Amino acid sequence: MSILFSPLTIRSVTFRNRLWVSPMCMYSAVDGVVQEWHHGHLTQFASGGAGLIVAEATAVVPEGRISPRDVGLWNDEQRDAWAPIVRAIHDRGSLAGIQLAHAGRKASTWWPWADARGSVPETDGGWVTTAPSAVAFDGFAEPVALDTAGIDRIVEAFRTATRRALDAGFDVLEIHGAHGYLLHQFLSPLSNLRDDEYGGPLENRARLLLRVLDAVRETAGDTVPVFVRISATDHAEGGFTSEEASQVGAWATEHGADLIDVSSGGLVAHQQISVFPGYQVPLAETVRQGGRIPTSAVGLITASAQAEQVLSDGAADAIFAGREWLRDPHFALRAGHELGAEVPWPPQYDRARWR
Ligand SMILES: Cc1cc2nc3c(=O)[nH]c(=O)nc-3n(C[C@H](O)[C@H](O)[C@H](O)COP(=O)(O)O)c2cc1C
Repeated sequence: MSILFSPLTIRSVTFRNRLWVSPMCMYSAVDGVVQEWHHGHLTQFASGGAGLIVAEATAVVPEGRISPRDVGLWNDEQRDAWAPIVRAIHDRGSLAGIQLAHAGRKASTWWPWADARGSVPETDGGWVTTAPSAVAFDGFAEPVALDTAGIDRIVEAFRTATRRALDAGFDVLEIHGAHGYLLHQFLSPLSNLRDDEYGGPLENRARLLLRVLDAVRETAGDTVPVFVRISATDHAEGGFTSEEASQVGAWATEHGADLIDVSSGGLVAHQQISVFPGYQVPLAETVRQGGRIPTSAVGLITASAQAEQVLSDGAADAIFAGREWLRDPHFALRAGHELGAEVPWPPQYDRARWR
């Protein structure tokens, strides 16, 4: 009996399996509005058996986009463009999540395949970035430190984006607190040098994340699952640690988070990561605290037996994969077949099932 292919229920939502699509930026939006590309990209994973598809980092305000081509959810046009994608995912038997995000000092950058690198100048459609402190990410423009009114506006932007995400039909909300973006910048002492109630001890550095979580949970009500993605270490001296991540995971759970999606890194350019299959699984296990805090594992989990092992070891409750889904959009159909699990194939594909 496969754990990977056993259903999981969180609040009112039952996931058909625990092999999920990790959020992946496509840098293909126009004015924050998703396009036909996103439709084809996201729905193929639903046909491929995914239990959940979390759409890419979606900015709650224009200046929170990683690049000018990122998707957003700060207006109704953006909301309305998401709705048919969510419907198509549902039609294919899967569930749709969205990752709500603000890139902070890592905003206004070129997309990966642009000819330029680093920050986009204002003359080319870029903008001045904001962060907890006026400390630049190596190679990017210096951000402006947020004042408390600016912080309050960001909390409200997460709240209104949540409302729009629910109206578009999303089943799951994920708050992006990882990869060196704004909420992670507040968590880490390497990017947060504030001396007010948002800086210094961990409970202050975690304050913005928890305020955002409160706003999202209040808006989502009791039935909708809310996940929080964190980077459980900065992989850098003096940075955010896995012990702090465990504490933040526990606080987030008390504030209504249902699952901590455990990733790592992205805060500083000088991080020292050693990358190998399942390299972030031990972090998910640490944050999970023996099952007290539900977690997902992500990072170079590319094979069915490997994913199954992570769950049977009790290191996580679900698996997110990114690049393997890009290589094989039918990853879950294949994995189910390999594990001998009963996976519902789309009837249109059934002739490919056995030979
Ligand atoms: C093209 C691409 C875009 C990504 N965009 C995001 C994103 O929007 N939000 C996020 O939290 N992680 C993002 N990631 C990281 C993935 O979600 C995932 O955590 C990472 O790729 C490790 O998992 P993998 O080894 O299965 O790919 C991205 C990764 C890729 C390859």
